[in-house]
Amino acid sequence: MKKELVIVLDFGGQYNQLVARRVRECNVYCEIYSYKTDINKIKAMNPKGIILTGGPNSCYEPDSPTYSKELFELGIPVLGLCYGAQLMMHVLGGKVEKADAREYGKTEVLIDQKDSPIFAGVHEKTICWMSHFDYISQVAPGFTITSHTENCPCASAENAEKHLYAIQFHPEVLHTQEGTTMLYNFVRNVCACNGDWRMDSFVDEQIQAIREKVGDGKVLCALSGGVDSSVAAVLLSKAIGNQLTCVFVDHGLLRKNEGDEVEAVFGPDGPYELNFIRVNAQERYYGKLKGVTEPEAKRKIIGEEFIRVFEEEAKKIGKVDFLVQGTIYPDVVESGLGGESAVIKSHHNVGGLPDHVDFKEIIEPLRDLFKDEVRKAGLELGIPDYLVFRQPFPGPGLGIRIIGEVTAEKVRIVQDADAIYREEIANAGLDRSIGQYFAALTNMRSVGVMGDERTYDYAIALRAVNTIDFMTAEAAEIPYEVLNKVMSRIINEVRGVNRVMYDLTSKPPGTIEFE
Ligand code: XMP
Repeated sequence: MKKELVIVLDFGGQYNQLVARRVRECNVYCEIYSYKTDINKIKAMNPKGIILTGGPNSCYEPDSPTYSKELFELGIPVLGLCYGAQLMMHVLGGKVEKADAREYGKTEVLIDQKDSPIFAGVHEKTICWMSHFDYISQVAPGFTITSHTENCPCASAENAEKHLYAIQFHPEVLHTQEGTTMLYNFVRNVCACNGDWRMDSFVDEQIQAIREKVGDGKVLCALSGGVDSSVAAVLLSKAIGNQLTCVFVDHGLLRKNEGDEVEAVFGPDGPYELNFIRVNAQERYYGKLKGVTEPEAKRKIIGEEFIRVFEEEAKKIGKVDFLVQGTIYPDVVESGLGGESAVIKSHHNVGGLPDHVDFKEIIEPLRDLFKDEVRKAGLELGIPDYLVFRQPFPGPGLGIRIIGEVTAEKVRIVQDADAIYREEIANAGLDRSIGQYFAALTNMRSVGVMGDERTYDYAIALRAVNTIDFMTAEAAEIPYEVLNKVMSRIINEVRGVNRVMYDLTSKPPGTIEFE
């Protein structure tokens, strides 16, 4: 069904996805495109509004990303953010120059034009996130300055008659305290969107669309137990019932009891109508991983083996019409199909597509959704909270949380330690506030004493990070008493461990995983 659409034109800024997510939080559907997108394509999409993102360049340099003046003459409201604001001024005849000093961080902005549509309901003095070197020294003809800061004469400007708005700071970043109000004002008031993007209607429409597409065909889905594949599976099962077959490969590298939990939900005793096949491939995986220590080699083996096991199962089923992929919108953007982002996450597409499964077409029911929207859709579908709010878990599983060779014994150790850690984080009420947390098994053994006995056992590393985009992260500040309790429970309850350490490293220079 055709939705009201706002498009984000990406000029290479790091917050492109954030802008789109914030717009969607205003119940307006939003997609990201490169600034190189042809004007005719933009016209054909008939957007209700256009947002220009920030970017690392200076708009007055000859080779910098730009857009023709025509964009601002379509009669469609345009909001320029940071680089986008400067570009709007530059293209329309204003002036942008390098400032003496960079303005960076939380900054007080003073609103000069209180009746600006963008600032409706915003305080006269408001904290915003600034990050710029260049500044707008002269606005374009027809524009008025609507706010300033101590160091920046033009923090925002507008030509309300032409529906053109420029904001030097970043309303999409949460540090901008009233940023959501400003974006809401733009998309709902200036662009006059009604707010028709809602997860309840998304779910209903998808169910309808899947039924139409699939007809009486057969559909095959690889279920990992993660949020995306679980939501996709339930959506399909609601649409087409047992025309759907889900294959769940237990590679023996899942968290403690996870295989049984997945089976309890999707298996024959669970609430959904579908064909569920669980493949217990633990021994096969441990065999393949024997003696392998290098992390990328482990990833490759786990990914490839997954495809082989899946193919073997698929062959038993015979010809299927559709194969389900749990692709979500950030995968689309990061694989270079939207915006300006380079291919960042290729290694996360574990193993790619199976070569030898006989199917006609791929279905990607979550392709338009951000992660938080997948979760909302999951709740709409009545999927249990503990599945919907599962933290991210890498495809290669515990295989990349065990340093060195993977063995059944090491898997048992890290599973038990991780289960204790998760339990205590939940007991402390921290489970929803930390981005990602887990226990990993270092390959280090050292001497300890337990009772009267000397031990020579492994060290467990506890990791917990807060992150917005998983590209940068900070170690989470977990209260000492919680860490202490986790340490003492792991030492007492997990055979084979005599030390517990907390990893303080941020990303960069570290990574989130511990491999
Ligand atoms: P890193 O360790 O690269 O992790 O800082 C960033 C995010 O990506 C996840 N991750 C993976 N996910 N296959 C996946 O499906 C992988 O090989 C993989 N490696 C890392 C990691 O859990 C974190 O959320």
